[in-house]
Amino acid sequence: MKNPHELIEKNVGLLTILVLFAIALGAMAQITPLMFQQQTMEPVKNLRPYTALEMEGRDIYIREGCVGCHSQMIRPFRAETERYGHYSVAGESVWEHPFLWGSKRTGPDLARVGGRYSDEWHRVHLINPRNVVPESNMPGYPWLAENVLDGELTAKKLAVFQDFGVPYTDEDIANAKAEVAGKTEMEALIAYLQSLGTHLQ
Ligand code: HEC
Repeated sequence: MKNPHELIEKNVGLLTILVLFAIALGAMAQITPLMFQQQTMEPVKNLRPYTALEMEGRDIYIREGCVGCHSQMIRPFRAETERYGHYSVAGESVWEHPFLWGSKRTGPDLARVGGRYSDEWHRVHLINPRNVVPESNMPGYPWLAENVLDGELTAKKLAVFQDFGVPYTDEDIANAKAEVAGKTEMEALIAYLQSLGTHLQ
């Protein structure tokens, strides 16, 4: 054998294993340092966990597939920061399980939509987006205004997040059901939207 390369290049199995190894090594070199950087692990100063109602809203956001059309990740480019506000920082997402950064922008980024519109605007928009944005191709979600939450699982959801290290108190968990029961899914989703991106100061 003149050249060990010949062995590798003529053996697909070996080549595949070595290519995967090279990619894994490169990925680890990029990712591992981030796991030890304070900046990526520490919550931003004013971060607070989702309220029980916002938590239910977040689950509705996941259930309805909003993440398929909306990102929650403002990139540090001028075109983005001028449109959406300060770029997203890791410390805003440390208590997100799972992240809803998304990767598809049929609609605008929502990372800082909190406070941009009134609750009433969101209600009208979510029932039928064309009522406020005539050219919109976002679907309407009228059933959210009719579905009422019973809060049966809310405490459990908060408890799971507490296990993940999100600083919920036992009191938060005990009150979760009462905070949510009887509210509509619409109210929960709007509470969630209004909280987005409001903790970075
Ligand atoms: C098929 C793609 C699609 C889906 C699914 C979708 N949207 Fe949208 N969304 C859009 C488009 C396009 C716009 C821009 C036009 C408009 O405002 O309606 C938009 C706009 C918005 C806005 C206003 C943002 C701004 O800054 O003006 C909010 C808030 C919003 N969507 C929330 C949601 C929520 C919550 C869901 C899930 C219940 C959802 N969207 C699902 C496409 C989508």
